[in-house]
Amino acid sequence: MTTITTVLEMQAYVEAARRAGKSVGCVPTMGALHAGHASLVTFAAAKHDVVVTSIFVNPTQFGPGEDYDAYPRNLERDIAIVEQAGGAVVFAPTVAEMYPNGPNTTIHVGGVTEMLEGASRLGHFDGVATVVCKLFEAMRPDEAYFGQKDFQQTLVVKRMTEDLLIPVTITVLPTLRESDGLAMSSRNAYMNADEREQSRIISKALFAARDLAKKGENRSAILQETMTSILSTVSNFIVEYAVAAEAVTLESKPTFSATSDIVLLIAGRLGRTRLIDNVIVSRT
Ligand code: PAJ
Repeated sequence: MTTITTVLEMQAYVEAARRAGKSVGCVPTMGALHAGHASLVTFAAAKHDVVVTSIFVNPTQFGPGEDYDAYPRNLERDIAIVEQAGGAVVFAPTVAEMYPNGPNTTIHVGGVTEMLEGASRLGHFDGVATVVCKLFEAMRPDEAYFGQKDFQQTLVVKRMTEDLLIPVTITVLPTLRESDGLAMSSRNAYMNADEREQSRIISKALFAARDLAKKGENRSAILQETMTSILSTVSNFIVEYAVAAEAVTLESKPTFSATSDIVLLIAGRLGRTRLIDNVIVSRT
């Protein structure tokens, strides 16, 4: 296992790999790795000669009062998980390495950042787009892997990559879930036993609306009401949004065309834990 902490060393490592004719995949993460992250590394390792997993808790994507300080950090454990998943290189820079002049230059992606997570977490996607662009500069990958778990983030990263003409292929992989349906997340560790039990309501609501949409329900109000009425059975869960939108644009329409793919998205809080999840209903 190779652990690299500086941008210069990272660039030199990838440059050497490339000169040796190797292809490079990357998996950007904030650490606190779980089986969902590991699945991205394993998938990337099956295709690329070199897979770099970055582990960097990015301060610029956390808002004031969010969990930047509390975010779980355990580099040794993360390195072991990357190794087990088939990754050979970890890039774990410090904040000073990634932001040598502080947070001066920011990338703002328009359009897909405006709603949902972008509206709930102001500035969040500027932080994400900026750090992903910088990580791409450091790792110079041929292909980068992201999870559908953060669906809106995948749209933002794709748009940023296209708009800035960055020569990297973005690949999105499915969400890994616990056996009761809860999407795996580093933040699940914040929940106490009761909240953990209650958290299954999110996937239950998503799956019920997905089943309706699969049967041909095209009215977003019905899909949204299905989700909110199921979510309301857990009074502890404070809904931020429960939305049906077109999967390509994230636009919510009163009625979806019968062939457009729909994404169902939920965000909310259980106690101090903010959780998000989504499912895509493919209808083509
Ligand atoms: P993080 O939350 O650590 O997630 C890293 C990657 O793992 C993301 O692409 C995310 O969608 C994916 N992932 C998370 N949970 C998953 C699950 N249950 N199944 C499959 N994939 C999952 O997302 C970030 O970090 C950051 O915003 C980052 C892109 C690294 C920029 O800082």
